[in-house]
Amino acid sequence: MPQPGPEPDVLQACSPAKINLFLEVEGRREDGYHELTTVMGRVDLCDILNFRRTDDGRIRLRLAASGEERASPVSAGFPLDGQNLIVRAAAVLQEQSGTALGADIVVAKRIPLQAGLAGGSGNAAVTLRTLNRLWNCGLDESSLGELADSLGSDIRFLLTGSRIAVCTGRGNRVRPLPFCGQLHGVLMIPFSGNATAAVFRTLRTGAGQADRRHPAALLRALQEGRMQGLSGLCFNRLQHAAAELNPDVDRILKQLRHTAGNAMVTGSGSACFALTESARQARLLASRLRSRTDDQVIPFCI
Ligand code: C5P
Repeated sequence: MPQPGPEPDVLQACSPAKINLFLEVEGRREDGYHELTTVMGRVDLCDILNFRRTDDGRIRLRLAASGEERASPVSAGFPLDGQNLIVRAAAVLQEQSGTALGADIVVAKRIPLQAGLAGGSGNAAVTLRTLNRLWNCGLDESSLGELADSLGSDIRFLLTGSRIAVCTGRGNRVRPLPFCGQLHGVLMIPFSGNATAAVFRTLRTGAGQADRRHPAALLRALQEGRMQGLSGLCFNRLQHAAAELNPDVDRILKQLRHTAGNAMVTGSGSACFALTESARQARLLASRLRSRTDDQVIPFCI
């Protein structure tokens, strides 16, 4: 019988972004958060994180020192101290597990900050999962999930690894959706970001709002693989507030609607997306948009 090899002391992980295909705000909660019904999809845009186990108990984080990432405006403003969700995730895992180990972490950042793409949340999810293994902490899924919730609302979805899920509560009660299809589109992202808390504050919600939306038709279409006309079933309650706070969002939504025929903000923005019917159409749309704008334009697939 082959013996299991020694645990590796270096691991690499891909940290994906998400978009919200649907987001309804059901009301305000007593804890200050909002009750949501949202449909999230994991997209193929990702950051790459490299972890190396160390013995000194310290967490050191830096940006990849070479290549396009260093010069990229994407990483401008990315904190490398205790504010960073990677460092915070590592710290809560150290505390929970009692490990004396540390880590050197290098991140190649591709997902823009403050874009509604959950780049930071994805980083936290892969940090929990990868260091749990690298440090041999042995925490189970439910303990990792509780740590995820202590760090942010979107982290559970990215921790589950599902492609599409319906998320309720703060966004952290995750029900994966059976989905065999492929969903294509283009992200258009301004260099200005949106602060999530500010967008929620700008939102005017009436409890029991008359025009409350439900994702049932979208979920049926996704499950049955009916991708045509899907954009008409997507919805985001935060869109108006996101565009009101940030004129770039308003401008991009108009440009996408004009060029692609559909447009929606993801999460609280500032990234917007349009769905297309194929990967080829997404590439064509992306090159058309790139010739007309300085915003970041990224074709994606779920
Ligand atoms: O949970 P997360 O740290 O991602 O949330 C950032 C901010 O967004 C919160 O501080 C809160 O103001 C707002 N938020 C909310 N309701 C949610 C999720 C986030 O009000 N369900």
